[in-house]
Amino acid sequence: MEKVALDRLSPGRVLARSIFLADGRILVRKKVTLSSSIIAKLRELRFPAVYVESATDDEIKEPVSDFTRSEVIQSVARQDYAFRNGKSINFLACREPLQKMIEEIQENRHIRLGMAEIRSLNDSIYNHMVQVCIIAVKIGIQMGYSQFKLLELALGVLFHDIGMTRISADVLNRIGGLTSDEIAQIKTHPRTGYNLIRQNRDLPEVAAEIVLQHHERYNGSGYSQKLSGFHINEYARITAVADVFDAMLTEKPYRPAKSLEETLSYLKEQKGAEFDPVVVDALTAAVDGE
Ligand SMILES: [Fe+2]
Repeated sequence: MEKVALDRLSPGRVLARSIFLADGRILVRKKVTLSSSIIAKLRELRFPAVYVESATDDEIKEPVSDFTRSEVIQSVARQDYAFRNGKSINFLACREPLQKMIEEIQENRHIRLGMAEIRSLNDSIYNHMVQVCIIAVKIGIQMGYSQFKLLELALGVLFHDIGMTRISADVLNRIGGLTSDEIAQIKTHPRTGYNLIRQNRDLPEVAAEIVLQHHERYNGSGYSQKLSGFHINEYARITAVADVFDAMLTEKPYRPAKSLEETLSYLKEQKGAEFDPVVVDALTAAVDGE
């Protein structure tokens, strides 16, 4: 499998990983031979690159099937209007596909983490939240979590960035630098998300806590409450590592994706500083397949 930037992509290559739209629907399935019109569409939708098959390929294994991933993303993305307009959110609709996703991750526990997702540069919420959820569940499994704890963890992580739905698309997808006002605006998203979740009793209380605390850092350098160490909920400490892992591996409008090596070395460097050392070790084990 090879990652090819869109401007170097020529028709005739075979897609190695399915491409998901921002709302979770599958735009192009893996094994499809790319035509010039598909490539034009991908360009229009601002996909920076795709994975295509190469001559030396082994079969690509992913911990979650395309079908289940799509169902989970759609179950959350369907509520976009509710998130943006403060309408009541149907969290229960997400529960069943989420449970299915956790089961698949457990069945496929031998599949290592590390393949970066490729998303449209206009897509910064739903695909990201689900990918972070998959990474967090992998970490939880590595930490010996029970079924109950995995579900509790996943229910919070799945919504960790819903507060971002209240930030304007212009700010989220901007290529240039942000003003200090705009950065301050982005930093309100854990609190906004917490308030959105708290209105609803279908989710465990701890899910709201995960949302509120996912930008806290182990050494107290994060936000929103500047908590440190074990004052940060363990699930939120897991989410922080999973979130940064996914963010670094993903292309952003303002920078290219980092490699797996760069990403892991940053997380290891920050072990015991920004991040809980136990969580970083669990993630490293999930990548190395220990
Ligand atoms: Fe966030």
